[in-house]
Amino acid sequence: MSSPLHDSLDGANGGIQSGRYYGRAIPYLPIDGYPGKLIAIEGTDGVGRSTQIELLREWLEVRGYGVIETGWTRSPLMQPTIELAKSSNTLNKLTFVLLYATDFADRLEKEIIPALKAGFVVLSDRYIFTALARAGVRGVDRQWLRSLYGFAIAPHLVFYLKVDVETLIGRVLEARGMDFWESGMDLKHGDDIYDSFRAYQNKLLREYSSMADEFHFRNIDARRSVDTIQMELRRQVAAFLESADEPRPE
Ligand SMILES: Nc1ncnc2c1ncn2[C@@H]1O[C@H](COP(=O)(O)OP(=O)(O)OP(=O)(O)O)[C@@H](O)[C@H]1O
Ligand SMILES: [Mg+2]
Repeated sequence: MSSPLHDSLDGANGGIQSGRYYGRAIPYLPIDGYPGKLIAIEGTDGVGRSTQIELLREWLEVRGYGVIETGWTRSPLMQPTIELAKSSNTLNKLTFVLLYATDFADRLEKEIIPALKAGFVVLSDRYIFTALARAGVRGVDRQWLRSLYGFAIAPHLVFYLKVDVETLIGRVLEARGMDFWESGMDLKHGDDIYDSFRAYQNKLLREYSSMADEFHFRNIDARRSVDTIQMELRRQVAAFLESADEPRPE
């Protein structure tokens, strides 16, 4: 039978202290006491994550922090495979889930953990919540997914750029148009990419929202201007880093 303790040992469930593994640790990679900070910027396709991360990075570097950025499907090992799989659209849901998880595992071990050890601020463009949301809307079992991602590290901060679908549609159309995957065309809602985008993104937004409390998202209203959002992010990041830098009582 499942108890909160059992769940927390098993998978990526909330309630875990930041900077620790959600579930079973990677046994050969202890991370306790590492000085770096992991900050995830989550949000759906085209909401403005990269724009905010670039600004945040410059600001942190000016303040003297070492910063690295990591992003979904950017592992050199897995990126070509994931691109190939996407372009052929022949793989099943589970295969995609496992490709994403492999990409994340590779970046965790080669980029994220070494950077935390060296005291960097790691800005993560998407985190496991995107994987949970995308797989969730495709019908993959949620508990199984959390179990799979038990090796992930609970971020110190998760900012969720929250938007409504109408604002998102306007932004994406203006910026670059809708692509096959971010319209969920593989789910076969219909032939119309616009209708499909709306339906799929609505489902994704619901999935993200359903995780907000569990994983301590800090909701950021992403309908506002780039500068207003950035000011709020900086304020919250500064408050967190200052409190983390304060010496702890013996
Ligand atoms: N707050 C905002 N208001 C209006 N437009 C914005 C805002 N933030 C970003 N944009 C514009 O929306 C587009 C997408 O932004 P960006 O590339 O930062 O999003 P993203 O979340 O990283 O997208 P992707 O999912 O493609 O990686 C860009 O053209 C950007 O200039
Ligand atoms: Mg981006």
